[in-house]
Amino acid sequence: MSESRRVFIHTFGCQMNEYDSAKIRAQLSKDGFVAADDPTQADLILLNTCSIRDKAEQKMHSALGEYRNLKRYGQPVTIGVAGCVAQQEGKTLLDRYPDLDLVFGPDGVPQVRGLVREAMAGKRMLDTEFLDLETYPFVSDIDPEAGKSVGAFVTIQKGCDNRCTFCIVPTTRGDEASRPSAEIVAEVRALVDRGVQEITLIGQNVNSYGLKVSGEKTFAELLYLVAAVPGVSRIRYTTSHPRDMGDDVVQAYRDLPALTSHLHLPVQSGSNRILRRMKRFYTREHYLAVVDKLRDARPDIALTTDFIVGFPGETDEDFRETMSLLNEVGFVNSFSFKYSSRPGTPALRLPDHLEDSIKGARLTELQTRQRELALAWHRSLEGSEVSVLVEGPSRHDAGVMCGRTATNAMVNFPGPEWLIGREVPVRVTRGFTNSTRGDWISPELSAPAELSA
Ligand code: SAH
Ligand code: SF4
Ligand code: F3S
Repeated sequence: MSESRRVFIHTFGCQMNEYDSAKIRAQLSKDGFVAADDPTQADLILLNTCSIRDKAEQKMHSALGEYRNLKRYGQPVTIGVAGCVAQQEGKTLLDRYPDLDLVFGPDGVPQVRGLVREAMAGKRMLDTEFLDLETYPFVSDIDPEAGKSVGAFVTIQKGCDNRCTFCIVPTTRGDEASRPSAEIVAEVRALVDRGVQEITLIGQNVNSYGLKVSGEKTFAELLYLVAAVPGVSRIRYTTSHPRDMGDDVVQAYRDLPALTSHLHLPVQSGSNRILRRMKRFYTREHYLAVVDKLRDARPDIALTTDFIVGFPGETDEDFRETMSLLNEVGFVNSFSFKYSSRPGTPALRLPDHLEDSIKGARLTELQTRQRELALAWHRSLEGSEVSVLVEGPSRHDAGVMCGRTATNAMVNFPGPEWLIGREVPVRVTRGFTNSTRGDWISPELSAPAELSA
């Protein structure tokens, strides 16, 4: 199709959704769609939504209101809701919003071309069927935007077989399916060919990769395969489940220099009583043992985590256990959230939900301490030489480049734009709460010949 139409995708939520949005763009580009810079320029607006907490869901409704206004005031636009809220609410959304044209869940992504075609022809479309796991069609088209940034996500599995009692994801994404390792490696190669250097493997529980499929690689084996692709300088992955973090993955930290010295290992709570109620199936002691092994294998590893505070029945004593775990591990950063009740999740039915004010006070205390730990970590880097993969110009300062260390510390330093995509030595001069500042160590190097012409 030669006629060019514009699509605007508003993405909420986690890396899965970012990745799915890229796959939607890649598929729609085959039907002549190009990205619109602005919703007012779009023929098609898609909201790829998140339902992890009530706030995320509310954000989607208010954004949808704005887009529906464009249509009400005369813009000829087709509007669709995709992602986790679409899966959760399905037909309810079409009933509630008479001018909404299309609703499809995460498993609708492989069919997006057909869905959009029908919706643009005037048919209201709903697709919330989960696809067969055995033949799940992971989309292989490459994001037309890939290569514009230094890093890219690669999905290795979809869905989740765990049933953490607070979590909506199993409802919205369905059961787990692993993507064939050959497809993963092919996508990594294609991305590296476009200049991507840092690969982040994504899944809800990457450690269980491949276990349900006979003859498939394990997650640890997959790490070795990806590391063997020429041109991959850094490998990250998310998310790991502490119960499933095996010794084979720990060993990979000894063997694979490309595996970065940063691990996001969500703990949720430091109290064994609460971990039991969450059905996380590990203890605080197990978590600490995993941390010890990782540090033994990779002494400089920087650990980050997720916390939920104010889970039903969480006492002050339980919360103290979470605070003591934060200090004991010395997380360099964390995402922390007030427990939010989600429709149909087991925790909803627990009797002892907490007042919002208690959750709020605990969250503030935890985040205050976390900021101190982050600051201390960034300050501990002062004076040291670090290797920075340069991602792009700083958003705040002209002439300043921004990149990350293998431990995921953000480093800003004065430097030219041709450093983007290169790994360069920088001496850290100041540590702040969210980032560090430094000086590029070899400024006497000149721009490559092809750039200085
Ligand atoms: N698969 C990942 C997490 C996915 S959700 C894992 O197992 O860790 C990302 C984070 O959102 C979770 O780690 C948790 O901290 C938070 N979260 C999930 N459900 C929540 C809820 N109902 N209320 C508050 N935070 C929640
Ligand atoms: Fe949700 Fe637990 Fe699955 Fe993570 S592992 S997605 S928290 S059910
Ligand atoms: Fe949100 Fe769905 Fe991701 S609920 S966090 S977009 S898996």
